[in-house]
Amino acid sequence: MTRKPYFITTPIYYVNDVPHIGHAYTTVAADVYSRFLRARGDAAVLLVGTDEHGAKIAEAAAKAGKKPKVYVDELAQVFRTTWEKLNIQYDRFIRTTDTDHEATVRTFLQKIYDSGFITKGIYEGLYCVGHEKFMSAEELVDGKCPEHNRAPQPYKEENYFFLLSKFRKQLIEQIENEEIEIRPLERKNEILGKIHQGLQDISISRASVPWGIPMPFDPTHTIYVWIDALINYYTYGKLKGTWPADLHLVGKDILWFHAVIWPALLMAAGEAPPKKIFAHGFFTIGGSKMSKTLGNVITPQQLIDKFGVDAARYLLLSAFPFGADGDFDWARLIEKYNADLANGIGNLHARLTTLAVSHVGIVLGWDDELSEIRRFRGRYEAALEQLDFYLAIQVIQELISKGDKLMNEKRPWAVEGEAQKKELHGLLQILAAVAYFMHPFMPETSVKIWGSLGIAEINEFKKMGKAVLRVHKIENLFPRIQ
Ligand code: MSP
Repeated sequence: MTRKPYFITTPIYYVNDVPHIGHAYTTVAADVYSRFLRARGDAAVLLVGTDEHGAKIAEAAAKAGKKPKVYVDELAQVFRTTWEKLNIQYDRFIRTTDTDHEATVRTFLQKIYDSGFITKGIYEGLYCVGHEKFMSAEELVDGKCPEHNRAPQPYKEENYFFLLSKFRKQLIEQIENEEIEIRPLERKNEILGKIHQGLQDISISRASVPWGIPMPFDPTHTIYVWIDALINYYTYGKLKGTWPADLHLVGKDILWFHAVIWPALLMAAGEAPPKKIFAHGFFTIGGSKMSKTLGNVITPQQLIDKFGVDAARYLLLSAFPFGADGDFDWARLIEKYNADLANGIGNLHARLTTLAVSHVGIVLGWDDELSEIRRFRGRYEAALEQLDFYLAIQVIQELISKGDKLMNEKRPWAVEGEAQKKELHGLLQILAAVAYFMHPFMPETSVKIWGSLGIAEINEFKKMGKAVLRVHKIENLFPRIQ
């Protein structure tokens, strides 16, 4: 039997607005990781998509004066195009309004209902439409949701409930023994702590929200948007034989849904829970939360316009460690671009190709001077295996600095002919290896570098050693930006 591919997902984003760099952050990370796995020869599939039902979307559509379906069609297209511009190699762009998804959601809920894990009851609480969830009194500031700056709506309705409390023991066990791996570890402990405090059953239907999937066993209710959304992963996984998911990549804001509610729903339906959930940190822009009101929203398109696609991808993942919170601002992005890309790889590449252009037939050869590159490779792979994009980038930067240093020591420009060829050899090995390590982050740049060395796109490290170089000059990879 062939092994199922490694199945990676991103959150499916709400289409109440166009994508911003928060959405791009998770999506680029997922793409880098799946490209890394594929480059190692592992089959990996990446699922991305959009979350299109519920009160929040219905409200946004009404505000735009459009019918919900017309509105979500337009916005989903913007997300899809944005991921294509960012060079995201996804296997499917799933929408919660897709018919196969809607059918899977109905079957899934019917199954849980038939298994006795759904009951009817009255729900009373305060609902934040922006969050699409109930808020507790402690979460409010001056009676308002601090994130959406509006008072949640009082809500009382007869709802269907999912008996989440029944899964407490199983969840604790599986999270503790790492059948469900939650990363980073601090987050795992937070989640375990919260589960230990107790689990309440959750409302999973709405009688008052028409924009949603009707409950199969009671069409006067629609299915709560979060339940509908989570099932997207299963819709694809079941269809393609890739279930269970190997990795749900999410922001820390939605970890509870993914690490607790989702595995419990799957257990109730008799399906395997996801293997790993990684929650990354949240970033601010210039020290403030990204918000339309503050006018500090950065879109992926703006990043691409300023820096180009590859640099945009690189800058997102190089600013701060992936599991931690951080900050972006334009000045620092420009500084980082100039330091790492214009002065770093761009400069090394330009200097080396200028000298190497006159030498025909340098064989890269992976035998000599290689143990050092091999060590870098070990560190780089270990970092990416932990989803430590930040560290992987640091390893790449170290290798570039090593190239710069060697260049200054060996002074290949001061010699000619065979002597120069000999000095250039080790440096070109470093350049080719840097291009290889960069490939998941900056695919187009790597291909450009290899192209300038006269070698085709390489997806296996060892194959590169056999390459015979035919170097030519190309335009500056990363011109300086003011
Ligand atoms: N629709 C739900 C997810 C359902 S998944 C079954 C949702 N959508 S969202 O549009 O609000 O996207 C939230 C996600 O966007 C976060 O989990 C994170 O991946 C990303 N981010 C949004 N803003 C971000 C930051 N400021 N910083 C980092 N990531 C951010 O929740």
